[in-house]
Amino acid sequence: MAAEKSEAANAVSLVQHFFKQDEELSQECQNLITTLPTESDWFSVQIYQYQGFWHMKSLIQGILNCQNHFQAHDSDILIVTPLKCGTTWLKALVFSILNRKNAYNMNPNLDPTRTSIEPHPLLSANPHVLVPNLEFDLYFNTTNPDLSSFQSPRLLSSHLPYVSLPESVKQSRCKIVYLCRNPKDVFVSLWHFMNRLRPEVEELNTMEYLFEKFCRGVTFFGPFWDHVLGYYKESLERPERIMFLKYKELKSEPVRVLKDLGKFIGYTFSEKEENNGDVVGDILRLCSFESLRNLEVNKSGKLDSGVENKAYFRRGEVGDWKNFFTIDMIKQIEAITEDKFGKHGLKF
Ligand code: A3P
Repeated sequence: MAAEKSEAANAVSLVQHFFKQDEELSQECQNLITTLPTESDWFSVQIYQYQGFWHMKSLIQGILNCQNHFQAHDSDILIVTPLKCGTTWLKALVFSILNRKNAYNMNPNLDPTRTSIEPHPLLSANPHVLVPNLEFDLYFNTTNPDLSSFQSPRLLSSHLPYVSLPESVKQSRCKIVYLCRNPKDVFVSLWHFMNRLRPEVEELNTMEYLFEKFCRGVTFFGPFWDHVLGYYKESLERPERIMFLKYKELKSEPVRVLKDLGKFIGYTFSEKEENNGDVVGDILRLCSFESLRNLEVNKSGKLDSGVENKAYFRRGEVGDWKNFFTIDMIKQIEAITEDKFGKHGLKF
């Protein structure tokens, strides 16, 4: 009972981390918010529709901060995802591709005191720490975060829809790797994640109630379908700038995708790395669901926001929606998906 209470208390304080009082927002943000459409969100507080997408009030401040102040470099690499599409995994993979020349020890079972090479950073840090998010981590509370410690190329991430990316990102030649997922799996993953962040709200918000909101697009960084389409269209127009990936293809063809990723970001795997060294295989093994989930840092650590690292590793499968969706839910979400994606030939 005591453990349950402290878990609930932790959840409440965790959620509070993401909210700000009006007086903590800039005048620009406060003025903007009064003009935006609003609804109650998954946490039973208000969210606002800014540039066509739904966000918490405090996040709108983070978005404005990075829209107004972030200066992209041509060499930057930006990982962009809607929520719950495999961000954690992609961060681990791209980080490992970029850092593979450092020849880190990737084996979690090797005793670090007995090897001369440094342990891989992923063995002691969650991918979200190694690859920070622009609007949540870096610009959430400030207009001027210290980015001086980032080596080039800077590896950053965002959940922002294309329309809301800072102008400097759109104008630069930085690379964007976009990852999305079947909306049915996204909903199920989001449902579990949100209940974990705020278990007390689960009783208030049934799955049906939240599903209806998700389908209408009223969800963090939603509508999901518009988010995907924004990047999909851009990736067709500028394939050298935006790589468009699906969680399912990362699952089914990891070797091919990893090699493509390396090439796309300018870190192509050499023949020797592919064949003799099996660097590709080493990276995939280190970043696999089981491997990351079983690392001590991901079993017991927490992010600065208070979110437990283990919340990012649930099942890691394609098709878990089959365990939760009713026939009606399937029909409803498939009709929306066909309506939005059908004419673009996008399938999940
Ligand atoms: P499930 O909830 O379906 O298990 P994000 O990182 O964008 O928050 O996405 C989280 C989803 O990615 C969760 O999906 C999580 O289990 C899954 N995931 C995390 N790490 C993974 C990995 N290394 N391989 C595959 N899936 C992973």
